[in-house]
Amino acid sequence: MSSILSTDFLNQSDVKIQHTECFINGEWLPSKSGKTFATINPATEVEIAQIAEGDAEDVSHAAEAARNAFDTGLWSKMDARDRGRLLYLLADRMEQEMTYLAALETLDNGKPYQDSLNVDLPLAIDCLRYYAGYADKIHGSTIPIRGKYFCYTRREPVGVAGQIIPWNFPILMVAWKWGPALAAGCTIVMKPAEQTPLTCLRLAQLAKEVGFPDGVINIVPGFGPTAGAAVVKHPLIDKVAFTGEHRTAQIITRESAETLKRLTFELGGKSPNVIFADADLDAAAQGAYIGLFLNQGQCCCAGSRVFVHRSRHDEFLEKLQSLTKQRVVGDPFAAETQQGPQVDQAQFKKIMSYIEKGKQEGANCVMGGERVGEKGYFITPTIFDGVRDEMSIAQDEIFGPVLSLLTFDDKEEIIHRANATFYGLAAAVWTRDVALAHEFASRVRAGTVWVNCYDVFDAAAPFGGFKMSGHGRELGEEGLRAYTENKTVTLAL
Ligand code: NAI
Ligand code: MG
Repeated sequence: MSSILSTDFLNQSDVKIQHTECFINGEWLPSKSGKTFATINPATEVEIAQIAEGDAEDVSHAAEAARNAFDTGLWSKMDARDRGRLLYLLADRMEQEMTYLAALETLDNGKPYQDSLNVDLPLAIDCLRYYAGYADKIHGSTIPIRGKYFCYTRREPVGVAGQIIPWNFPILMVAWKWGPALAAGCTIVMKPAEQTPLTCLRLAQLAKEVGFPDGVINIVPGFGPTAGAAVVKHPLIDKVAFTGEHRTAQIITRESAETLKRLTFELGGKSPNVIFADADLDAAAQGAYIGLFLNQGQCCCAGSRVFVHRSRHDEFLEKLQSLTKQRVVGDPFAAETQQGPQVDQAQFKKIMSYIEKGKQEGANCVMGGERVGEKGYFITPTIFDGVRDEMSIAQDEIFGPVLSLLTFDDKEEIIHRANATFYGLAAAVWTRDVALAHEFASRVRAGTVWVNCYDVFDAAAPFGGFKMSGHGRELGEEGLRAYTENKTVTLAL
C-alpha cells in the first residue's frame, strides 16, 4: 500500500458551495427551526458548510408541496413524453457540469475524484436517461374476463414518494430514486444523508433550471430520527424508498405501520464471493480486490466474504496481496489515488473496532489494519486470512476496506455456507464450469449473482436483496413498477 498523504489537499475553497438550504416548492428555504448542522470533509475533518437542519415541520411543508404538485396533475398528468424530456434535460445538465459535481461529491464523501467523475456520475446520468425513455412506455394490459365486459389495467403513479438515501453513493442514489419515481409521475420528498447533502442539493437546483415544475422535487436535509422519521410518518406521503442499514429499515417498517405506506428497501449485505479450484485466479483476484475495496469498502454489495477453494488458497492470497499492496490511499483529489477516507468518524471507529475484533477472534491480519495519517478517516486496505464463519468479521457488515478470506472444500458445503447469513444482496462465483456456475446462481439466495465478474451494474438490470437485504427491486422495469399502482377498469359492453 502506498500513501500520498504528503501531497497538498486540494484547497477546499476551490469547490464553491452554492446550496445549503431546504429546497421546497421550488424555493431555497432555511429550516423552520433555524437550526443548521455541519457537513465535514472526511479527508481533512474540516467543516465544509453549515446545512439547514430540517425536521418534522420542514418535512410537512415539503409533503404539502409534493402532494399539491401531484394532486393538481401538474406532473402526474403531464404528457408522459414531456416528463421524459425533462429527465433527459436534467441528465444533459449534469453532464455539462460533471467535473464540478464530481468535485462536490468527493469533497463531501471522500471518494476519489477519479471515481466520482468516471464511475458515479456516468452511472447516475445513464440511469436518468434510462428512465427518461421509460416515461412514455408505461403500459397496462387488456384482460379477457368472463362476460360482456371490456377489462383493462392502468399503471398509475403511486403518489408522493418519500426517499431516504445513504452517504456511500450520494449522486447515484439520487438518480436511482428520482429516475423511476419521476418517470412514473410521482412527486418527491427526499432526505439526503446527513454526511453528504451537497450534491443532492445541487441536483435540485439543476432540476429547477431545466424546468421541473415547483413542488415535484423537494429536499429536506437533516438527521434520520427527526427529518427521516417525519418522512416515514407523514400522512400525505404514499411510499417510502429507503437505502441504508437493515436496522433502520426495521424502524421504518414499524413507524410506517400507522399510514401503511408502500415500502421498498435496499439494505446491506455480507456477500459471498466464491472461487472454485478451476477458476482463472488472476481474474478472480482482481474481482475479489475490486469487489471489496471499491468505494473504500462502503458498498452494500461488497464481496466481504471471499471463499477460495483450499487447493488454491496460497496462490490466490499471493495474487490478492500483490494487487492490494499497490493500492494508493490518500488525497481523494490526487489523480493517482484509488482509496480515500471513510465517510465519517463513526464509520471509521466501527471499522477499526472490527479490525480489533478480527484479531482478538484469532483471524490472521496479513495486510493493513491501521489508520493512515492523523487527520482524515483513512484506513489501510486490510486482509484477514484464516477467517472462520462464526467470527464477527465473517458475519457482520463492516462497510470498510476489510476483506475476510475463508477456504472451502466442496460444492455442497460452500453453497450452504454462502447462504448461512440473514443477508442476501449479492454473490459471485468464479469457475470455468458452466453447469457449476448456473447451479450456484440458482441455489444462492441473493438478488444479484455475478459469474466471473463483480460489481457490474446497469440501469436496466434490477438490483435488490433477498432476506434482510431488502424489499423490492431498484433499476430496470421492476424499479419503475415500484413507483406505480395497478388500477383495473371494467366496462360493461
Ligand atoms: P442509516 O441506515 O442509519 O442511514 C441511512 C439513511 O437513513 C440516512 O439518510 C439517515 O439519516 C436515515 N435514517 C437514519 N435513521 C432513520 C430513521 N429512524 N428514520 C428514517 N430515516 C433514518 O445508516 P448509517 O447509520 O449511515 O450507517 C450504519 C451502517 O449501515 C453502515 O455501517 C453500513 O453497515 C450500513 N449502511 C448500508 C448502506 C447500503 O447501501 N445498504 C448505506 C449506508 C449504510
Ligand atoms: Mg444510523
